[in-house]
Amino acid sequence: MALYAIGDLHLHFQTELKAKLQMKDRVWRNHEEAFRKNCEAMLQPDDTLVLAGDNSFGKNLAECEADMQYIAALPGRKILLRGNHDHYWDAKKTNALNEYFRGKLFFLQNNFSSFEDYALIGTKGHCFEGPFYLDRRGRILGWDEKNEAQSRKLVERETDRLLQSFEAARAAGYRKYLMFLHYPPTNILEDESPFTRLAEEYRAEQVIYAHSHGESRFHDSIQGEFHGVQYSLVSGDYLKWRPKRIL
Ligand SMILES: [Fe+2]
Ligand SMILES: [Fe+2]
Repeated sequence: MALYAIGDLHLHFQTELKAKLQMKDRVWRNHEEAFRKNCEAMLQPDDTLVLAGDNSFGKNLAECEADMQYIAALPGRKILLRGNHDHYWDAKKTNALNEYFRGKLFFLQNNFSSFEDYALIGTKGHCFEGPFYLDRRGRILGWDEKNEAQSRKLVERETDRLLQSFEAARAAGYRKYLMFLHYPPTNILEDESPFTRLAEEYRAEQVIYAHSHGESRFHDSIQGEFHGVQYSLVSGDYLKWRPKRIL
């Protein structure tokens, strides 16, 4: 039994992407096929695969039916996180999604899952992404403060979701945790954040996150060990569509 993670599949089998920006980079060309082949070569039926958000570009369930079928057909147990592009997933409808896809997919938010004796805790997360104001050399002079204040509220809501999930897992007897986020745990201005502090407080062994894609963004946040916690970026293009082994 192994646990794998990857994020940002950006599936859109039923929809044309308005902006085909991602297609400019070779790594995105026919990536669905490359990813499926990698999963089939690497994963066993009793393995678990966490998809760390931005799973589908469909605006509603009807528009992402083919995307969900593709995910469900991958080997192993599949656990999904909510990304900023997952518009089919209203925060209040997590239970309904879990009912609808029972036995096929598990949607991780305001709940927890498990792998061996680990509780899997996860939420979308959030981090402030600007706009930043730069000088001619590209150094940051300032940023949109109104946007940043709004971001702080979202961070608060997301850390609260994590806290509830950690507590539910703890009440169920779990003492070992892995924490999953879609957004990076810190923004480019921060060395630590409410997310890193929460991971430390609950002694999560690892924090796994996605969302940063395109080479210029691969090092936007923490990678490797920080304050005793192991951080990994698992965006699909960063991993070249090979899921990362977590445990
Ligand atoms: Fe993404
Ligand atoms: Fe994203």
